[in-house]
Formats: sequence, C-alpha cells, structure tokens
Amino acid sequence: MGIKKVGVVGCGLMGHGIVQVAAQAGCDVIALESDQGFLDKGLARIQKSLAKMGEKAVQKGKQTEEQAAAFAKDAFGRITGSLDKNDLADCDLVVEAIVEDLDVKKALFAELGKICKADTIFASNTSSFPIAEMADASGRPARFVGLHFFNPVQLMRLVEVVRTDKTDDDVFAAARAFGEAVGKAPVSCKDTPGFVVNRLLVPYMVQSLLMLDRGDASKEDIDTAMQFGCGHPMGPITLTDYVGLDTTLSILEGWVERYPDEPAFEIPQVLRTKVEEGKLGRKSGEGFYTWDGDKKA
Ligand code: CAA
Ligand code: NAD
Repeated sequence: MGIKKVGVVGCGLMGHGIVQVAAQAGCDVIALESDQGFLDKGLARIQKSLAKMGEKAVQKGKQTEEQAAAFAKDAFGRITGSLDKNDLADCDLVVEAIVEDLDVKKALFAELGKICKADTIFASNTSSFPIAEMADASGRPARFVGLHFFNPVQLMRLVEVVRTDKTDDDVFAAARAFGEAVGKAPVSCKDTPGFVVNRLLVPYMVQSLLMLDRGDASKEDIDTAMQFGCGHPMGPITLTDYVGLDTTLSILEGWVERYPDEPAFEIPQVLRTKVEEGKLGRKSGEGFYTWDGDKKA
C-alpha cells in the first residue's frame, strides 16, 4: 500500500477509531484536534480500546499477554497527537472526521489544500454532505474521496468509498486499498445523500423517534422490538444515542434544507428538544438514555 503516513482531523467518536485502525495497520498517524482536552480524551479512548482488544486476543488464545502488550504499544507508538495543521503537510492521506457542518469542513479543506503536499489524498468521513462540494473547496478535486467509516470504527467491518465525477481512478483505487489495509470491507458508492447505509438507516431512526413523539410505544419497547423482532444488535433509539443526537440532527437539517420535498427526511421534535437541552447521547452521558462510557447505565 502506497499510503504510509495518515492524518486524521478530529479525534472524537469517529476520529479516534480511524486513528486507531490506521495505526494498527502499520501507518504513522497524526491525530489532529482543535482542542487539547478533546485530543487527550480521544487518545485515552484509543489506549482503552487497544487494551480491550488485547485482552480479548489473549482470552481467545490468539496472542500471549506479552504479544498483546507489544502490539498495543507499537500501534499507540505510531500515533502523534497535534493541534497544528502544518503537521499534516507530508501525509499521504488526510481523513477528516470533524463536526458535521459543511461550511466548517469546506473551510478546513481549503486550508489543508494549501498546507499539504500536492499528492496528498483528502477524504471526508461525512455522514451526509456532498463530497464534491468539499472536493472543490480543497482545490484538488481529483485527489478527493469520501471514506465513510462506521461507529464503532474498531468493530464495524464496512467502509463506504465515495467517488465524484472528478475523482482520479488511481486515487479511488488507493482509497479502497487503504480501507482493506485497515481491515474493512469497502463498498463503492456514488456521491448521493447518505451514500448507501445512511440513506436507509437515518430515515429508519427518524421513524422510531416519530413513534416516540406520537406516544405509539415506549423507547424501551421500540428498541426491544427491533432487537428481538429483527435481530438488530441495538434498537434504533439506542443507536441514535450511540451515533450522537447532534450529529443526527445536523444530518437531517442538511437534508431537509437541500431536499425539502423528500418525505423520508423529517426532523422529529423530540430530537430538536434533546439537542437544545445539551443531551447529545453517549458522548455527553445522556440522550434518550443515560450512558456510562460506551455502555447504557
Ligand atoms: N474497542 C474495542 N472493543 C470494543 C469496543 C471498542 N471501541 N467497543 C466494544 N468493544 C467490545 C466489548 O468490550 C465487547 O467485548 P466482549 O465481548 O469481550 O465483552 C464486545 O466488543 C461487544 O461489545 P458490548 O458487549 O459492549 O456490546 P454489543 O455486543 O452490543 O456490541 C456493538 C457492541 C458492536 C456496538 C453492537 O451493539 C453493534 O453492532 N451495534 C450497532 C452499531 C451500528 O449500527 N453502527 C453503525 C452506526 S451508523 C454509522 O456509523 C454511520 C453514520 O454516519 C451515522
Ligand atoms: P464528535 O463530535 O464525536 O467529534 C468531532 C471532533 O472534531 C471533536 O473532538 C472536535 O473537537 C473536533 N473538531 C471540530 N472541529 C475541528 C477542527 N476544525 N479541527 C480539528 N478538530 C476539530 O463527532 P463524530 O461523531 O466523531 O463525527 C465526526 C464526523 O464523522 C461527522 O462528519 C459525522 O457525521 C461523521 N460520522 C459520524 C458517525 C457517528 O456514528 N457518530 C458515523 C460515521 C460518520
């Protein structure tokens, strides 16, 4: 794989996982944050996750304790935290995983377009925004793709690789190869709203919240119904908390504005209210449920 040095911008729920899987695959990784507190939190999550994975590998007899500890130490040792965008200048690939706000993402890519070497590939992990708009803002649309990972990145096998009309074939191939190198199954997607997964998943989450708004069933019963009735690992309301209520609202606000005639894109009042109250789900410790770290309390 030609990609040896990776920059990840944003070390939150998604960014920390992308940093981790890239480091596990042997890449040197710069984890860039705008805030030291968020950077420290992201790096601590990586250490916890590496320890958890090591423990599991030992339990299953795949590694000795010494091998697991050495793997975690090596992977973590390949990660450098930074608050300075200039540290991304010589990366082969930069993956953006910051807040779901198109203007903020475009401004970031415009800046990175001036900082990074000419052949750096840029990728956005956006859940919902057009890749082409960010690609144009970067000044290098031929070297731009969507790389949409899933939450939690360490465990979810999929990555959607999104190309625009302007993406070079070799850039698209390199992005797919990177997805494989970090242990994911890549699927190719066009630059359409929500790509494949979110175009199906987010309207489903919306319907569950509208049910709650109408009082059709309790949140616990809606979640249990989809877990035990359809075999989903978590119900839709737990999943909305898991994804982040602010992120879910941003996805829907963008879509409602762009596609006002699409009935699948609707904003449940209960979602707005929770975000206004600062209840963002797992990341803030409370959303529809209360959370203790990654688990429901
Ligand atoms: N790192 C390492 N290990 C982890 C981990 C992490 N970050 N998170 C969980 N684990 C481990 C746990 O320790 C646990 O290990 P043991 O079996 O040894 O105890 C194992 O993974 C299973 O975890 P849990 O017991 O906590 O819970 P679970 O069995 O429900 O599995 C889950 C957790 C994999 C997240 C599962 O619930 C699941 O698949 N949920 C659905 C997730 C999903 O749909 N994600 C997509 C969201 S949408 C999206 O990402 C796109 C977007 O743009 C919004
Ligand atoms: P998050 O709120 O957990 O993390 C975002 C991080 O970005 C924060 O730590 C913040 O400090 C940092 N940040 C914001 N602006 C920055 C900047 N200019 N430079 C550097 N760092 C900056 O959000 P998240 O859930 O990790 O989502 C990140 C992106 O991934 C969004 O585009 C989201 O739509 C997408 N996504 C989210 C999920 C999910 O389930 N949460 C799944 C797939 C994709």
